[in-house]
Amino acid sequence: MAIRDVLKMGDPRLVAPARPVEDFASPDLGQLIVDMHDTMRSLNGAGLAAPQIGVGLQVVIFEVVANPRYPDAENVPFTVLINPVLTPLSDVIEEGWEGCLSVPGMRGLVPRHAALRYQAFDASGQPIDRSVSGFHARVVQHEVDHLHGILYPMRIRDLRYFGFTDTLFPGQALQDD
Ligand code: NI
Repeated sequence: MAIRDVLKMGDPRLVAPARPVEDFASPDLGQLIVDMHDTMRSLNGAGLAAPQIGVGLQVVIFEVVANPRYPDAENVPFTVLINPVLTPLSDVIEEGWEGCLSVPGMRGLVPRHAALRYQAFDASGQPIDRSVSGFHARVVQHEVDHLHGILYPMRIRDLRYFGFTDTLFPGQALQDD
């Protein structure tokens, strides 16, 4: 088990495109996923992308199970996506509040596709193909953006809806990262 440091906005590694994984049998890949899982759990994150711990590979993980950072969110099963490709399933765009472990203490209102299909590979190289909506779709879009060097503040349309969590949501006891 290894909890890794999460890079913060301003680090150039967060805005660099990640490379596809080519060797699914590599022990380094397995260790990367373990470290990402341990790091996400330790910070109560809903998701984490490899570039956030300084690894420029197309690997993301996410999980939402009674997450104190997202008290109203539906459950999302623990998922590892390698080399993911997203396809929107409609033109409907929804605005929703997001935070990011690389932008601690802040939240912003971010437009995302309401429904999409994602295709990827799991940790053992088996294909994944799911169609999802709502918070699940939002989390996937947020995490896959990290693989393209995009942080959620870059997608906020009205910066009046970007601010400090404890000021935006006073008394809601949301964690500040
Ligand atoms: Ni993030």
